[in-house]
Amino acid sequence: MDTIHASVLLDEVVQGLLLKDGGRYLDCTCGLGGHSEAILEGCGPTGRLLAIDRDPDAIQLARGRLAHFGDRAEIVEGNFSDVRTYAEATDMVPLDGVVADLGVSSLQLDDAKRGFSFMREGPLDMRMGPKVGATAAEMLEELDVKDLIRILRDFGEVNRPRQVAEAVMSARDEGRLNTTAELAEVIERAIGGRKTTPIHPATRAFQAIRIAVNRELEELEKLLEVLSELVAPGGRVAIISFHSLEDRLVKQAFGDPAPEPQPFKLPVEPERVLGPWEAVTKKPIVPSAKEVASNPRSRSAKLRVAIRRGPEGA
Ligand SMILES: C[S@@+](CC[C@H](N)C(=O)[O-])C[C@H]1O[C@@H](n2cnc3c(N)ncnc32)[C@H](O)[C@@H]1O
Repeated sequence: MDTIHASVLLDEVVQGLLLKDGGRYLDCTCGLGGHSEAILEGCGPTGRLLAIDRDPDAIQLARGRLAHFGDRAEIVEGNFSDVRTYAEATDMVPLDGVVADLGVSSLQLDDAKRGFSFMREGPLDMRMGPKVGATAAEMLEELDVKDLIRILRDFGEVNRPRQVAEAVMSARDEGRLNTTAELAEVIERAIGGRKTTPIHPATRAFQAIRIAVNRELEELEKLLEVLSELVAPGGRVAIISFHSLEDRLVKQAFGDPAPEPQPFKLPVEPERVLGPWEAVTKKPIVPSAKEVASNPRSRSAKLRVAIRRGPEGA
C-alpha cells in the first residue's frame, strides 16, 4: 500500500483489549485499517470485526488491506454515532471489544484537496466524509464573530481568539478566504507571526475549525452514550484521543457518576453508585519516546481502556 498512516499505540491497544479467539470486535475509526488488521490477527480464525469510517477513501483502502480476512471483516461507511444500527445489522452485539482512534488520518491530512492542512494549498473543506455536511468555507460563511470566538477558544484554546475571529471574518467579507493557505495567512498575521509560538500559529485554529465542521465532540458523546449497551460484561473498550476535550469526555464516561449532593451531612457515607465501566487505565497511556520520534503525529495521543461491568457491578 502506497498510502501510509502509522497506527498509534498499536501494541497498547491490542494488549488493552485482551483479544480472545472467536470474539466480536468493533473498530469505530477504521482509517487505513491498522488497528482493525491487528485485531483480526489476534482474535483467531472465527473472530469477527466490524469497522466503520465516514471517509470513503479510507474505506476503499481498508477494504483492500483487510480483503484476505474474507467475511470475518465487515467494513461500513458511516458515522460511529450510528454504531447501534451497524452493529445490530451485522449481528455483532454483544461486542467483546471496541477501539476508537479519534481525529484525522495522515491520508486526510496529507491530501491537499481535502483542505485539512495549513501547510498545503487546498480548498477550505475539512470534512472527513467529503459527501456530507457543510465544508469549512460554508460553515465560516454562516458564522458570526461570537460563534467563531467560541469555536476557536473551546475547540482549539487559540491565543487571542477575538483578534483571530475578527481577522477571519473580515477576510471572508472581502472575499479573501478561499483556500487553506489564505486562512493560515490570515490567522498567522492576527496572532502575530511564527516567532511567538513553537508550533505554527494556525495549528490550533485549524484544529478548532475541523472539530466544528465534523461535529467531533457530538459524535464522541453519542458513541460513549450507546457503547455500554452494546458491549458484553467483561468486554473492553480502548479509546485514543488527541486533545483534552476528547480525553475529558472519555475519562468522565469511564468514571463512576458523581454522588448525589446531600442537603445535610449523613452519619454514613452515601452508597457509591457504579457506572457501566471500570477504568483499567487510571492515567492515560501515552506513546513512548521511540514512537513519537518515528511518528511525531502520535505525540498528543492518550489511550484509556475500560472494562464493561456486569449486572452486579462485577
Ligand atoms: C486516526 S484515523 C484512524 C486510523 C486507524 N486506526 C488506522 O490504524 O489506520 C481516524 C479515522 O476516523 C475517522 N472518523 C473520525 N470521526 C469519525 C466518526 N464520527 N465516524 C466515523 N469515522 C470517523 C476518520 O475519517 C479517520 O479515517
